[in-house]
Amino acid sequence: MLVPLAHAQNLGEALQECPGTMTGSTQPQQIHLQMTDDATVMNVVWATEGRSMGEVEWNGQTAPSSDYCYNHDMAFHMASMTGLVPGEEVTYRVNNGGDWSDEFAFTPIDSSADHFEWISIGDHGDSSEAMDVSEAIIADNKAQMVTVSGDIAYADGEQSAWDNWFNFQQDSMTSIPWVTAVGNHENEPGYGFTPYEHRFDSDGQIESETFWYSRNVPGIHMVFMSTEHDYTSGSTQYSWLEQDLSSVNRDVTPFVIVYGHKPMYSSNSYHGSEVELRAALETLYVEQGVDLVIAGHDHFYERTWPVAGETVVTNGMDDRFARGYAPIHLVIGIAGRSAYEELDEPQPEWSAFRENSTYGWTRLVYDGDAREISFTHYRIDGTIGDQFILQEAPLTSNTGDGFLGVPGFGTLLPIMAMFGAAIRRLR
Ligand SMILES: [Fe+2]
Ligand SMILES: [Fe+2]
Repeated sequence: MLVPLAHAQNLGEALQECPGTMTGSTQPQQIHLQMTDDATVMNVVWATEGRSMGEVEWNGQTAPSSDYCYNHDMAFHMASMTGLVPGEEVTYRVNNGGDWSDEFAFTPIDSSADHFEWISIGDHGDSSEAMDVSEAIIADNKAQMVTVSGDIAYADGEQSAWDNWFNFQQDSMTSIPWVTAVGNHENEPGYGFTPYEHRFDSDGQIESETFWYSRNVPGIHMVFMSTEHDYTSGSTQYSWLEQDLSSVNRDVTPFVIVYGHKPMYSSNSYHGSEVELRAALETLYVEQGVDLVIAGHDHFYERTWPVAGETVVTNGMDDRFARGYAPIHLVIGIAGRSAYEELDEPQPEWSAFRENSTYGWTRLVYDGDAREISFTHYRIDGTIGDQFILQEAPLTSNTGDGFLGVPGFGTLLPIMAMFGAAIRRLR
């Protein structure tokens, strides 16, 4: 359920927290959509130098914003556009004290559509390579969403870095939602998660952020979790994950993708596999049939085979996989930060493909007729680095089905038993 916008911060609080916002331009900037869990409601968040009351105007209606700030000389505003019709374009603009933004347009995602395209990135920042990625995203007029697997602006305590980052992405973020999982660089020296909590919003509450949540898009249930908060058994996040993953209706959304920052599987020598994360959550992901786990943190690209307990469960056939065996793990920390080039040797068996010195993004397409996802890793020079297809139906005998021979959940059970025993030995 969408939580109604909380009341605005009062003047006294603002004077204490952000005296720099008492003066300055009220021209809206850093305008970005924030996708709610209700397709008929889209939130928009923006910033102004000077503190003022804002509003959003869409489809001939207006709604006031909630206005707030933190220990930084920018005021923030959030407003809800309601009564939207999924699939029907909305034009809107925002205003503070008579200073109107340009007019923007977006189309609310219709989760019953039979086609959906989106871009997934990780570890972005503002390097020239990051700008190349941003420009590719802005130029992509078919993508309907961007996901970021954490390490977003790399402000690291320098708050103007966030301002610049949001302004640079504004051409994209005003027309399609960017949906984020939190990374370790969102936990900033001297600020903690406060800047992230004020600038991104998944829960419709100002000055707070829910660090684990899910969204439905055509064909896919997307989970955004936090590797930066407690995820162990018994934690609030673990209970939420268990409940969320077990409530997915696979007839409606055949695929489940988990976005998080640190990878369970990585053969990069810089960070490598986050073994505590794997010990805590891999069994849950396998049992709940998570299809893809998309992480960052190690600044390289890697794709695993469907894997459980470091055991390859299937090799698919010709870069085509049937869902239902075990998750494929991706590390896509290639959106702009300096590449971590040193890799573990030899390449682990579970690692299907890896690339250690390029930058880029990934692009996914859901085809509702075929009920399959096409995944492509693009480099910033436009060439393709890696590609695979994940389908709902079993691979037929003439396309083969990897070494297990017979597709289906049944074949997974012995693997899971083996894997469970391995996990118990680890404890
Ligand atoms: Fe990073
Ligand atoms: Fe990181």
